[in-house]
Formats: sequence, structure tokens, C-alpha cells
Amino acid sequence: MTDVFGLSHKDTGPGNAQVSHEQVVFCADERSGLRAIIAIYNTALGPALGGTRFYPYEDEQAALADVLNLSRAMAYKNALAGLDLGGGKAVIIGDPDRDKSEALLRAYGRFVQSLGGRYYTACDVGTYSEDMDLVARETPFVTGRTVAHGGAGDSSILTAFGVFQGMRAAAEHTYGTPTLRGRRVGVEGVGKVGHRLVGHLIEDGAEVVVCDVGEQAIERVRRRHPQVEVVAGRAEMVAQDIDVFAPCALGGSLDDATVAALRARIVCGGANNQLAHPGVEKQLAERGILYAPDYVVNSGGVIQVSDEIEGFKMERAQAKAAQIFDMTLKIFRMADEEGVPPAVAADRLAERRMSEVGRIRAIWLGR
Ligand SMILES: NC(=O)c1ccc[n+]([C@@H]2O[C@H](COP(=O)([O-])OP(=O)(O)OC[C@H]3O[C@@H](n4cnc5c(N)ncnc54)[C@H](O)[C@@H]3O)[C@@H](O)[C@H]2O)c1
Repeated sequence: MTDVFGLSHKDTGPGNAQVSHEQVVFCADERSGLRAIIAIYNTALGPALGGTRFYPYEDEQAALADVLNLSRAMAYKNALAGLDLGGGKAVIIGDPDRDKSEALLRAYGRFVQSLGGRYYTACDVGTYSEDMDLVARETPFVTGRTVAHGGAGDSSILTAFGVFQGMRAAAEHTYGTPTLRGRRVGVEGVGKVGHRLVGHLIEDGAEVVVCDVGEQAIERVRRRHPQVEVVAGRAEMVAQDIDVFAPCALGGSLDDATVAALRARIVCGGANNQLAHPGVEKQLAERGILYAPDYVVNSGGVIQVSDEIEGFKMERAQAKAAQIFDMTLKIFRMADEEGVPPAVAADRLAERRMSEVGRIRAIWLGR
């Protein structure tokens, strides 16, 4: 079956979108050059929250497919992060370096405002806290603003902290102790999230191996942590004798070749959409590799920015992100009990919360 956009319907977890989104809005403002799509997957738990990706998509169809996938993944991520938020996402079609302007961002803010609070936006690839400050001049439904404007600032702080909590849970499940001390961890991509994760790992006593396609990123991590070992790329990293592989670059790191070559017993990283295609979660399980589902362990960022809705407090947000440890452990145990990969257990748990907690809205409150 296909929907009005000609996309096929599948309903099997957040990796496969294109099903029953509540609302999809196309936004255009010719003078500023704005072309955007806002997708709300669901609002079962509250207003939809998800970032704005500013990216030079090949065409509108590619942008639409991406926003439908990403908004659905946000619903699952927000549900398991324990937030009273549904899933949404937006994409702006264009090259952020060339096309971004005050007028364009503010025009976009007007469209966010037109949804009346059904969708809260935030940063994503190609957008920054300063951009959210501009969007916020047209709508209050924005998070991830700069600290100077009362915002939560750089979300990679709690993203990395949360990934570290997920990794501690994976260590507990695998080795019976929640520490990475003495373990060898390979971090692919040492950008905003990856380099902070390296800091947590070194503090915990792990040995760290890194790779990155950007020289500056490598230089930064070397300056801060001279003891890290640098390797050329993912292939060299996964062929090494590492205990944990932490994908923190772009999506799709866990492809067939990587999974086949992987020597680590744990995969836990910050990148979104790590599984290159459906079925990889089974291959990992068959090889006895424990996979900490990406959207569970990288939810620290959305926990950080969503705290802004109440008036941002880092301490409160960090306490919430610390719960990623318990949630990850719960998913591993549920996966064992139900005989399914952790990615499947996570999807089931998220769907349960959306349905059980979302359902209470049906209780009549009187006039
Ligand atoms: N920033 C957040 O709060 C946040 C929250 C949730 C998920 N994520 C996800 O985490 C990942 C990293 O995000 P970020 O904010 O650190 O981005 P970033 O752009 O700061 O860092 C990404 C790093 O990966 C490197 N890289 C790109 N391709 C690579 C490759 N093939 N091999 C090795 N390194 C490569 C880049 O050079 C860069 O240093 C992304 O997948 C993002 O979607 C980020």
C-alpha cells in the first residue's frame, strides 16, 4: 500500500517510517528562499519535538523521505526518554552555508508558530543554537537556544553523557560491572558528541582508539587527550582488538562488512540510524555482539533541550539523562527474556508507552 506521497507503508519500528504520520506540512517563502517540510509523526505523549535539519537534499522527495523517517524515530526516542513529547522533525532544503539567512529562519519560525504548539523545533545537522535564537523571534515553540537567551545550549554535552551511561549499562550486562576501566573502546567520529565521549571514557579508565575524516577533530582530541590512539578509519578500527565500538559519526556505520569484521562485544555510540538496513540488528545478535539501540542511548540531547520548556536547569536535565543507564539495562533484560535483539525490545517498549500513556487522553475530563 502506498500513501499520498507515493511511499510504501511499513510498520516495523522507527527505522522504517512512512506510516500514518499525523501531519505533514510543506512550507515555502519565495523571497527568502525557504523550502521546508515539517512532519509530525504523533502527539500521543504531548507536542511533537525534534530538530530542524538544514541540508542540500537532491530533491523534495529525498527531503520528504528523510523527514518522515526522522520524525518517527523522534517519537520512539522521546517515548523511551520518558518525556511527555511526541515525535516530529523538520527539514529545510538548501545549503546552510549558502542559503541560510535571518529572513529565511524567521520565515521558518512563522510556519512553526502556525502549528500552534503542536511542534517544537530544535537544532540538528546544519542548524545551531544561534539559528534557534532567530527562529525564537517568531515563535515560542523552540528549544536548543543559546544559554544567553535562556536556552539549553549545546546538546552534545548530555548526548555524550547519555551514551556513556548506555555504555556503562552494556558493560554491566556483559561483564557484570558498570565500568569501562581497562576496556579498549573505539570511537568513530570525534566531533561534538564523540570527543566528549572520549573524555568520559578516559576519566573512567578506558583505553581509547579514535578515527575521524576531519583533521581538526583529530587534532582537538589529541590536544585534550594525548594518550588516545588514532587509526585511519572504521575498517582499521573494527579489525582491532577492541571491546566496545562507538559509532559517533554519521548514520549507517553498522553495515554488513563492518558487522562481519567486528571484534568488539558491545556496540554503543551516539550516531543516529546506525543500522545500515533492517536485519543488521539480527546479524549483531547472531554474532553475540550486544547492540545498545542508538535512539535510546543518544537521547541525552533531546532530554537537555526539552528541559528548556520548563525553564532550563542543567542539574535536572542531567539527572534525567542519568536514567539512560537503567533504561538501557531494562531493554537488554527484556531482549533476553523475549528472545529478540535489543533494537526490537526497545521498539516494543516505546510503542507500549505511547499506547498505554497516550491512551489516558481518552479519559473525559468534564467541562
Ligand atoms: N549533537 C547531538 O546532541 C546529537 C544528539 C543525538 C544524536 N546525534 C548524532 O551523533 C552523531 C554525531 O553528531 P555530532 O553532533 O557530534 O556531529 P559533528 O558533526 O560534530 O561530528 C561528527 C564527526 O564525525 C566525523 N565523520 C564524518 N564522517 C566520518 C567517517 N566516515 N568516519 C569517521 N568520522 C567521520 C566528522 O568529521 C565529525 O568530526 C550524528 O549521527 C548525530 O546525528 C547528535
